[in-house]
Amino acid sequence: FNEQNITYKTINMKRVIIYTFLFLSLICQKMNATPPSQKQSDSPINKTERMSWWTHDRFGLFIHWGLYAMPARHEWVKSREKMSDEHYNRYKDLFNPDLYNPEEWAHMAKSAGVKYMVFTTKHHDGFCMWDSKYTDYKITNTPYKKDILKPLVNAFRNEGIRIGFYYSLLDWHHPDFTIDRNHPQMPQNPELLKELNKNRNMANYREYMKNQLTELLTEFGQIDELFMDYTYAEGENGKNSKDWDAEGIIKLARKLQPQIIINNRLGLSENNQGWDYITPEQFMPQQWPTINNLRVPWETCQTFSGSWGYNRDEYSWKSVHQLIVMLAETVSKGGNLLLNVGPTARGVFDERAIERLNGLAHWMRFHSNSIYGCTAAPSEYSCPNNCILTYNPSTKRLYIHVLEWPFKSLYLKQYKGKIKYAQLLNDNSELKFRTETQKGSHMTENTGADDIIITLPVERPNVEVPVIELVLE
Ligand code: GLC
Repeated sequence: FNEQNITYKTINMKRVIIYTFLFLSLICQKMNATPPSQKQSDSPINKTERMSWWTHDRFGLFIHWGLYAMPARHEWVKSREKMSDEHYNRYKDLFNPDLYNPEEWAHMAKSAGVKYMVFTTKHHDGFCMWDSKYTDYKITNTPYKKDILKPLVNAFRNEGIRIGFYYSLLDWHHPDFTIDRNHPQMPQNPELLKELNKNRNMANYREYMKNQLTELLTEFGQIDELFMDYTYAEGENGKNSKDWDAEGIIKLARKLQPQIIINNRLGLSENNQGWDYITPEQFMPQQWPTINNLRVPWETCQTFSGSWGYNRDEYSWKSVHQLIVMLAETVSKGGNLLLNVGPTARGVFDERAIERLNGLAHWMRFHSNSIYGCTAAPSEYSCPNNCILTYNPSTKRLYIHVLEWPFKSLYLKQYKGKIKYAQLLNDNSELKFRTETQKGSHMTENTGADDIIITLPVERPNVEVPVIELVLE
């Protein structure tokens, strides 16, 4: 009996050891798999909660507005054309957007289905669009004289649109910001660069940024997104996260606005933490972007025409169709779209932008259900040809954006038993579907036994991109 008891105990001990080992290795695996953005004090749960509105809303409006609306040939004009401060100051001395009416902007944004707005409080030229007490280089010192930012924030908030601030890390006006390869005064000769930078002190500039960010994050109510722009550490004469005290900035922002969502352009992406989402710019990722094999939150920022600031002579405008496809495609890969408008120096959206926003508004009026609350479809739902799929996990509905309207039948591979009901989203009109293939003297449908065939009207619904809504089993 004793011997038996000992064997029994040994087996039990072994079990305990094995289970403990398994448990520990699972935990280790989990820790290794934590994406960089979630290490440090920010637990994944916190982050998911903090970001839930953002991953639901999906669609934001970027607004690039500043002095560069006057030259109207790119927001980098000061650097591209190597303008002196004096030369660039002509714009400040004349800036007077007499038609500025933020209510009008907010109304257009709201109609287009935009749920949050991100505004350039200060761009690389260093010019501030609010009445900052830390600089004279600001909107209240132009012929316009008034603050731009507060009325803008109020107007958008009144429409129920959340507020985000863009703040440039670069500053081509601040006397302590060291001249680097992006700076308008970058000399050809590296020796001269040392000379030019000898009295510039980045520590002062870091303090200036923190002071300004404190203003922005305390005087304008709740700020939901912070878009810091940007770090260029690679190569010569760039700047890295230490130049900004990126960690200090993140700490400050989180202290002042605990719910804020921060982008990844402070340069902390490789080995650090702190950011909430990545920012692919002006391109469409092929699939949901990953870091260490884990899908990360992402927001792609896109322009209507190429430049961010108002660019009069740019003719590469995307069509309404392209923009809708871009929105649906972004959501189909689990991302957000931040679509940019660059208002003119009179303070209005240019007519080409208005036309695009109206087009989006018309489409969103009938189709926002395939965008809000949606994400990538589970892999068990195959995507038919020429279509984009999005999926709402709470309502269990699948949305098929049909880019090219097929003739009479839409084939869904391996969907048998998965669909309860099908309808067109624009008018909630029923679409019949079947599994049995039809055979007639002049037709044979070659579909698999588990496929579904949706019967479509021959005429494509009169909307830019028709969407089929599937209520899933
Ligand atoms: C880039 C550009 C800048 C623009 C930004 C938008 O960083 O330098 O002009 O504001 O992208 O994401």
